[in-house]
Amino acid sequence: MKVLVVGNGGREHALAWKLLQSPQVKQVVCVPGNGGTAVLDRCRNHPLRLDDFSGIEKFTLVHGFNLVVVGPEMPLSLGITDYLKGKNIKVFGPTKAGAQIESSKSWAKALMHEAGIPTARSAVFSDPESAKAFVVSRGAPIVVKADGLASGKGVTVATTVEEAQAAIESLFHSDVKTVVVEEFLAGQELSVLALTDGVTILPLLPAQDHKRIGDGDTGANTGGMGAYAPAPIGTPELMERIQREILQPTIAALKAKGIDYRGVLYAGLMITPQGEPKVLEFNCRFGDPETQAILPLLETPLEDLLVACTQQKLAEMPPIRWKAGACVSVVLASGGYPEKFEKGQIISGIEEAEALDVQVFRAGTKIKEEQLVTDGGRVLGVTAVADNFESAIAKAYAACDRIQFEGVYYRRDIGSRVCGSRSTGG
Ligand code: AMP
Ligand code: GLY
Repeated sequence: MKVLVVGNGGREHALAWKLLQSPQVKQVVCVPGNGGTAVLDRCRNHPLRLDDFSGIEKFTLVHGFNLVVVGPEMPLSLGITDYLKGKNIKVFGPTKAGAQIESSKSWAKALMHEAGIPTARSAVFSDPESAKAFVVSRGAPIVVKADGLASGKGVTVATTVEEAQAAIESLFHSDVKTVVVEEFLAGQELSVLALTDGVTILPLLPAQDHKRIGDGDTGANTGGMGAYAPAPIGTPELMERIQREILQPTIAALKAKGIDYRGVLYAGLMITPQGEPKVLEFNCRFGDPETQAILPLLETPLEDLLVACTQQKLAEMPPIRWKAGACVSVVLASGGYPEKFEKGQIISGIEEAEALDVQVFRAGTKIKEEQLVTDGGRVLGVTAVADNFESAIAKAYAACDRIQFEGVYYRRDIGSRVCGSRSTGG
């Protein structure tokens, strides 16, 4: 089997790495890939843009690839799946209509309201004045979101009315045409990524991301600064409830709109202090960095699951098998991220880090003159598996300490919330 992976993040490195652990998978090509997928055994990169659908089609057909796995939301929301399926190519990832669940927060909110899915109360505005008046009427804390794709960075959790109003002003001053203002939900966040073929829904291990740039969940929102799995808060009882109250009604509501949703349905949840799961957002793809923390624990061949999704045969799969233990992935970022940062810094110490039994997934990196250099905000995901969270965290951070590049920044508290709790995997 030959698999084409579309994307260039740490998530795509993890997908390629996991696929290649299976003897069935002979080759993976990443489009465009990164400095990690460039050097992975039996993997190589091919330089095409994520939105060059006809280029991807030709490459897939000429080289006889059996499956295309789409990582990021952008090509999904532009309809890569519709395009390739129309050429009889097997694609993992929802159609353009399905991807709206992520590409339009207002569309997703309307779907949730129609289907009675628990989520924060919200209102949609297309002019700043009414949005600001609404904020005054509701008071703070309150949350302001850009309607379209923003790589996790279009959200302001405002603690004062003034902060919310400033966020509204700045969104409308940029390209944003519509904003969603919603009720602030307190609690713990949980990422539930489920594989679905439009009928059967198989949740992967629950994971927790760390969205804020600073230790103790402070500072600006980012694409995600680290993750761990299985998140102990995702108990079997809670997961069952999420399946029944959130995942199943969402797939049913999509179907009622004529959308046969196949791929990952990722529910970003807030678990309230009362233990209620409420949806903060849906994503139409694997999470980044959650994927880096989930896949190392997966024992079932990934390609079997992905192909079963495309063929609507998930119900025929035996239950997904997981390794016991815990996995922690720490993101090493460029200094300044999520604001301005420099690229092109030479990265050293990865071999020394990997000698400590960790996997270093490359994200914003490339190979320049035979050296690995930084090429984005989130640069590496240092990932460790161990019997428990304490050991996984210790292993991951010991390895982080071996890696250097100018301006390297990472949070020191990834996973520390669950130290002392038992992992629920296995
Ligand atoms: P989103 O892209 O919608 O998931 O928002 C990004 C991050 O903002 C989430 O992961 C939460 O940390 C935070 N957030 C979003 N919506 C809310 C909300 N209603 N209440 C509290 N925090 C939120
Ligand atoms: N980890 C957040 C995301 O993938 O959107």
